Amino acid sequence: MYILGIESSCDDTSAAVISDGRLLSNVIASQKVHERYGGVVPELASRAHQENIVPVVSEALREAGISKEELSAIAFTRGPGLLGSLLVGTSFAKGLSIALSIPLIDVNHLHGHVLSHFIRRNEGDEVPEFPFICLLISGGNSQIVLARSENDMEILGKTIDDAAGEAFDKCAKLMGLPYPGGPHIDRLAAEGDPDKFKFAKPHIPGLDYSFSGLKTSFLYTVRDELKKDPDFIEKNRADLAASLQKTIIEILLDKLGKAVKEHTVKHIAIGGGVSANSGVRQAVKDFCDKRGIRAWIPERVFTTDNAAMVAQAGFFKMKTGEFCSLEAPPYSRVSI
Ligand code: KG4
Repeated sequence: MYILGIESSCDDTSAAVISDGRLLSNVIASQKVHERYGGVVPELASRAHQENIVPVVSEALREAGISKEELSAIAFTRGPGLLGSLLVGTSFAKGLSIALSIPLIDVNHLHGHVLSHFIRRNEGDEVPEFPFICLLISGGNSQIVLARSENDMEILGKTIDDAAGEAFDKCAKLMGLPYPGGPHIDRLAAEGDPDKFKFAKPHIPGLDYSFSGLKTSFLYTVRDELKKDPDFIEKNRADLAASLQKTIIEILLDKLGKAVKEHTVKHIAIGGGVSANSGVRQAVKDFCDKRGIRAWIPERVFTTDNAAMVAQAGFFKMKTGEFCSLEAPPYSRVSI
């Protein structure tokens, strides 16, 4: 049984093939066109998906060593994401399913990120045990998810304003770094002093996050220091990055600590673009080691948007016979 996954929710066009839960190919075309605008431009993203989708799907089939006629089903990201971008993947998936007379499976992008830990490259690769907690941190989301099973997930907490990735990107922009700033902060932080600057941390009840106060605190520090020394950013680039990264990690782990006190789990996973951050990866590993919890840190290729996770989530839905109709429209916003 071969499942084709298609992902087009934001600015990565991706296609993947899995066979009986094992990954055969995962092709990702990232869109460079947005770099010069300092953020994703929705209209440009849709156009780039339109250009990329056919070659990306062809390449995924070629790498998997199969023809399209051998596919058993097509899984696609139905939402959440940018509507114009989602329409490209959704329409393509529907067209191909009609042409090949095979079923369609709609996938919630956020489920995909949580289930990315079940992608197996080889027979016998281990996977997390349910129930587990997943810290889902990306440019659009910051959530603590309790996964009870493949299709039973509950959001325990989520951001009430910015996502963790936005905090990285917006502060990086203030430092004059290119978009997306997260990877640049990560690289600079490795050379800086994480205790040089102190930034405000939120006091939000429960398991929800907030990152907008940190952004403002970072802005005020930079603005005040620039008045005293116009070269402040230049001279303190690495220390600013390291201090920012440390604060974001502390905010993330504070709520994760509360979550594991309220919900007994033996496994914790991370997912989403920010889970590529070296500091976050190490901190979550240390957090879990200290508590005797097993940490699931994804391969970097599965942290960002990818179709392997869509095909994987589709595989689980296929097993329970959950298919979707040709009328199903994409959705821009949805909870888990
Ligand atoms: O999941 P993702 O690829 O897509 C969106 O949700 O948009 O996440 C993108 C986010 C961006 O904010 C980017 O700066 C952040 O992930 N990111 C990182 C790192 N790599 C990507 N943030 C911190 N450190 C990184 N190494």
